[in-house]
This record gives sequence, structure tokens and C-alpha cells, in this order.
Amino acid sequence: MTTLLDGKTLSKKIINKVEQEISTLKTQPELAVVLVGTNPASQSYVRNKHRTAEKIGMKSIVIELDENVSEQNLIEQIDILNEDKNINAILVQLPLPKHLDPSKVIAHIDPIKDVDGLHPENCGKILSGEEPYAYPCTPKGIMELIEEYKINLEGLNAVVIGRSNLVGKPVSQMLLNKNATVTTAHSKTKNIESITKTADLIITAMGKPKFLKKEMVKENVIIIDVGFNKTEDGACGDVDFEDVKEKASFITPVPGGVGPMTIATLMQNTLDLYKIQNQIF
Ligand code: GUN
Repeated sequence: MTTLLDGKTLSKKIINKVEQEISTLKTQPELAVVLVGTNPASQSYVRNKHRTAEKIGMKSIVIELDENVSEQNLIEQIDILNEDKNINAILVQLPLPKHLDPSKVIAHIDPIKDVDGLHPENCGKILSGEEPYAYPCTPKGIMELIEEYKINLEGLNAVVIGRSNLVGKPVSQMLLNKNATVTTAHSKTKNIESITKTADLIITAMGKPKFLKKEMVKENVIIIDVGFNKTEDGACGDVDFEDVKEKASFITPVPGGVGPMTIATLMQNTLDLYKIQNQIF
């Protein structure tokens, strides 16, 4: 039997809980999103984050900067947000235009306001098994889904396809912290099929439409698809869902799987940072 990992329902549950908790606070948590340039996908993600935040009683500002903004100006903008006591959470939407170095920019965010968990201090804590101020939103959303469906990661052979700083690397580490045996595959991996065939759990985050087919997986595999690819036939994940689903014990749909979990986690992280900064335990 195949069970759908329903991110739509779980994300609503998380967002409702965050909304309820915000209604009991003396002041509103505030999220600041920095958007550089006019990448349509980024604009749409940022609009979505802003709308959700406002809907649940958070304050949300979007700082839109010109495509050609200098690194110096962008960093100055981050410094202003770092010093603003009303701002609890800062997110610099990625990817940035090519002339900007994302590592350098992210390193300027105050780690206690780093809602994406991408600052070296927060990444380092994840690496050493300590609690960061925030975990990266998509990996944390994935871990919440796994927990909701009571999947025990201990000893599982987990294969993550993709090694981005946003998803592949942190989720690999978070699975390892839960005692899974983790392989991180990527674009230079040889004979990927021989690896995916051994996996009890596969997380795909590579942006290749319908890449994962049933011949590449074993019976009862757990599949989490982070991909969101726009094709002529509509949106699809990195997994050929119809082909693979009969073989899977658990599988995320696209849309309605990981996508909504990312935004719910961002709301949760913003609230959590507010609470840390205001020493509410
Ligand atoms: N671009 C796509 N997903 C994300 C995310 O989770 N955080 C940031 N900062 N940029 C993104």
C-alpha cells in the first residue's frame, strides 16, 4: 500500500498553530525578505511568503533591490535590518544575480535573525549536532513530514540527490543526525541507479523533471520529492510519480508535498526567532 505524504494538510496544521500562538503575543513577529532583481520564480515565492505572513498576523516587509545592486549596498541593507529591533527574521531570496556572492551576503545576517539557517554559525551547529537558531526551511519541512508519518530514520539507507546549500547538504546532515546512513549523490555521481536501488529513503532535489523511474528504486522505498519543475504539461517533480508510486511505501505528491511545508516552516522559524529574541520559552 502506498501512503501519500500530505504536505498540504500538515502545512495548514502548522500555520494554524503559528497563527494561534501569534494571537497571544504582545507584539507581532516581523519577517524581512530581501529580493534582488526580477526573477519571476523568486518574485512569486516572495509574494507567497509575504501573503502568508500577513494572513496569520505577522508583519512582513519585502525589500526589493535593483538587479545591479552592489554587494556593498546589499550588505548595508542587511546591516540596517540586523540593527532594527522590530525585525526578528531576515531572508535573502536565492539565487542572487551572478555578481553577488551568496556566502558573503548570508554571512552578514545576524545569526539570531537568520530564518533560513544558512549562516555559517547555524550550518556549523547543524554539522556538530547542536541546535541552530533556525534550520533551513525546506529540510526542516521534510523532517516534519517524516516525523508526522512516524517514519523511523534510524539505520535507514537514505539517498539524497542534490548537494545545494539550501537543501541537499543540510538535509543530508539532518538525516545523519537522526542516525540514517546517508549518501549524497549529485551531478557528477557515476551510475546513480546502482545507488538509488539500494535506498530505503530517497530525497530528490535536483530540478530534473520526472528523473526518478520505477526501475531505479526498490520495493517499499520512501520517496520525498523536492523538485518543482514547470513543463509544457504543467508542474512536476524530479520523480515520475505515476511510474514510481506503486512501488513506494510513502511518497510526496507534487504539488502538495514539500512545497507547502517550506512556507509553513518559514512561518514557524520566524515565530521561533521572535521567541528566542524576546526570551519567551
Ligand atoms: N530560494 C528557493 N528556496 C529558498 C529558500 O528556502 N530560502 C531562500 N533564501 N531562497 C530560496
